[in-house]
Amino acid sequence: MNNINTVEDLYLMLDKYTEGVNWNHFYTKRDKPAPFLKYNTLPDKCVVDFINQHRIGKACEFGCGEGRNAIYLAKNNIDVDAYDLSEVAIGNAKKNAAKSGAEKVHFHAKNIFALDLTDKKYDLVLDSGIFHHLAPHRRLQYRDIVSDILNENGYFILLCFAAGEDGADEINDYEFYRSRQTGTAFTGERLREFWGEKFEIAKIRKGENIVDSYMWESEFLYICLLKKI
Ligand SMILES: C[S@@+](CC[C@H](N)C(=O)[O-])C[C@H]1O[C@@H](n2cnc3c(N)ncnc32)[C@H](O)[C@@H]1O
Repeated sequence: MNNINTVEDLYLMLDKYTEGVNWNHFYTKRDKPAPFLKYNTLPDKCVVDFINQHRIGKACEFGCGEGRNAIYLAKNNIDVDAYDLSEVAIGNAKKNAAKSGAEKVHFHAKNIFALDLTDKKYDLVLDSGIFHHLAPHRRLQYRDIVSDILNENGYFILLCFAAGEDGADEINDYEFYRSRQTGTAFTGERLREFWGEKFEIAKIRKGENIVDSYMWESEFLYICLLKKI
């Protein structure tokens, strides 16, 4: 029965009305010009920089796609749990991990809003491209999930569409529900306002177009380093 008796029922109804990209289709067809498909074995530059500057033991990645960052972390001796709702992406991630010899990564084909993470704690949570696809009604819950699973002084790395660039339009949250847009771009100010409620903003910067044989970064993204407070 499609009735709303709980807050979770309400979220599920709103999810239905804001269903965006069909990710299994996306990873099967591979016909979109997305850099994370083209460079699907290269980590983000900010992740490489972070690992060069911090010693951590456990990390979690949400929306890990085909595993490029999670595998990089695991190859740097970090225990990684990586989640993505697309079974196709997770199947490819497992194959990529096996090819690269990364053993410390565990991939799970799961929607992050259906996870029980009660006993989980991490030094780092990574989001390279999921937050900007979440509908506004899920963002507060998402911020709590990230904060709850981080150890004290833990870090959150967030990469999301920057307003004014090619990734997506910046629209306000009321408009999101009318527009049926599949992603939202953010200004630095909006990111500071939203994430600053629960995190110290260590750094927010616009990306640059950089790619080499080891890592990449794009100018259409904001790159944020947030610290749990
Ligand atoms: C833009 S892609 C980025 C993939 C990967 N992080 C990368 O950069 O290669 C966003 C990913 O988030 C995943 N995703 C979207 N909503 C999700 C949810 N509610 N739970 C888990 N994964 C989700 C999609 O399946 C997709 O793989």
